[in-house]
Amino acid sequence: MILSIESSCDDSSIAITDSQTLELVYHKKISQELQHSVYGGVVPELAARLHIEALPKILEECEEYFPKLKAIAVTNAPGLSVTLMEGVTMAKALAISLNLPLIAVNHLKGHIYSLFIEKQEIMPITILLVSGGHTQIIEANSLTDMKIIASTIDDSFGESFDKVSKMMGLGYPGGPVVQEYGLKGDENKIELPVPLRQSPEIMFSYSGLKNAVRMKIEKLENSETGLSEQDKYDVCASFQKTAVAHIMQKTKKLFKQKAPKNFAIVGGASANIYLRTQIEELCNTHKTKLFLSELKYCSDNAAMIGRVAVEQYKNKDFISIDEIDVQTRIKACS
Ligand code: KG4
Ligand code: ZN
Repeated sequence: MILSIESSCDDSSIAITDSQTLELVYHKKISQELQHSVYGGVVPELAARLHIEALPKILEECEEYFPKLKAIAVTNAPGLSVTLMEGVTMAKALAISLNLPLIAVNHLKGHIYSLFIEKQEIMPITILLVSGGHTQIIEANSLTDMKIIASTIDDSFGESFDKVSKMMGLGYPGGPVVQEYGLKGDENKIELPVPLRQSPEIMFSYSGLKNAVRMKIEKLENSETGLSEQDKYDVCASFQKTAVAHIMQKTKKLFKQKAPKNFAIVGGASANIYLRTQIEELCNTHKTKLFLSELKYCSDNAAMIGRVAVEQYKNKDFISIDEIDVQTRIKACS
């Protein structure tokens, strides 16, 4: 069995995976969303302090499995350095005290392998990864043969939902609340520009759309009636429609060029129903097989890290305790 730890952002999570049957024997996650919500985004130092409290509490529940463990796995990149460090420190301590090999797992590969929790992997597969930190399209032939074929040049898809939510004081994370508000709004009420519409390139950009939304909100705030609840619903619906239209325009281009056999959406923002529905339609049209992670495994969790670790364990892809280091992404989660 492999014990895996995830602490790259604001979720403290530990899992135990049977490396032979792939069974997820134990899995727990303590989310910090509530504590960060008042700040409208993740505060790294607060997140690190909360991991220090949560991780040992979860670990206590795993002690009965210690004699069966074959390796300790931990997310070491990308993420917030101060929070990654908490998981890595715990993993090192466990590896030393239980005399087990250490496996360093890339968080983004974890999101991809969230598709294969308790399942055999499907390769080759083209993946749309939409999270708080990333918006990418990846072509994967195996765990060790993956190529990023499109990325965002500024903000990410999930991050833009967080920012729009923050602008209207709707709390963090923004994705679920913006989706919820959008249900009550008119998606055609507020006209917004679809990013990079004229560009032939397959790449993403969300900062222009975010600023356009900011200007619309400011205009509504300065109007005679101010920003009403209905205005917020309309802003959310119109923004979501445009944000998804951008992804769909680029993904359609990709389908035309490459006609992928297998396609998947992963990452926290892959929970977005509006996006899921449109990707489903696109895949149906192209007779592409669509794979989705279970909703509970879309956001950050240690089960997906454990699933990657099973493959790395088979390949004896271990790292020494002195060598393991954390690597941050350019931006924080917020
Ligand atoms: O993968 P994840 O848990 O953390 C990162 O690795 O970033 O993704 C979190 C992101 C947040 O930005 C959150 O607002 C977004 O996923 N998200 C959504 C939805 N649910 C979560 N974005 C759009 N629609 C949703 N339903
Ligand atoms: Zn993530």
